[in-house]
Amino acid sequence: MIIGVGIDVAEIERFEASLARTPGMAERLFCDRELLLPSGERRGVASLAARFAAKEALAKALGAPAGLRWTDAEVCVEESGQPRLRVTGTVAARAAEMGVRSWHVSLSHDAGVASAVVIAEG
Ligand SMILES: CC(C)(COP(=O)(O)OP(=O)(O)OC[C@H]1O[C@@H](n2cnc3c(N)ncnc32)[C@H](O)[C@@H]1OP(=O)(O)O)[C@@H](O)C(=O)NCCC(=O)NCCS
Repeated sequence: MIIGVGIDVAEIERFEASLARTPGMAERLFCDRELLLPSGERRGVASLAARFAAKEALAKALGAPAGLRWTDAEVCVEESGQPRLRVTGTVAARAAEMGVRSWHVSLSHDAGVASAVVIAEG
């Protein structure tokens, strides 16, 4: 059963400018594995903007309660390239209250915009 759905978009250039002018923002929003590729290089800004959109979409799917920690939701990547959501802490607690047992996420970035859709399933 679908318990919640969320969608979000982020303008990539504006997101990049926010990251550049706000010290510590990247670390507040993202886990190490989101910031760095397996090669050790930093993940591209379009992919980061899509991950930000995924966290906003996830928050919407949960009714956007106060107190969710950005790094308690992580976008992991399967070998195939498919993204998956892993939740812990504040996000896992809210999801458990609502009866969410699994997550579905899809990301896209093109034409200067990054977007994500999240479905919470019970
Ligand atoms: C509520 C919130 C998601 C709105 O996001 P935003 O980027 O400011 O605005 P957007 O344009 O993307 O979305 C606006 C839409 O969000 C929806 N929205 C508002 N409150 C909502 C809620 N509590 N639950 C779900 N959707 C909500 C509305 O449909 C709104 O559209 P409307 O104003 O036309 O009705 C945002 O303010 C927020 O609380 N973000 C969560 C931050 C967070 O918890 N981060 C950690 C995540 S791990």
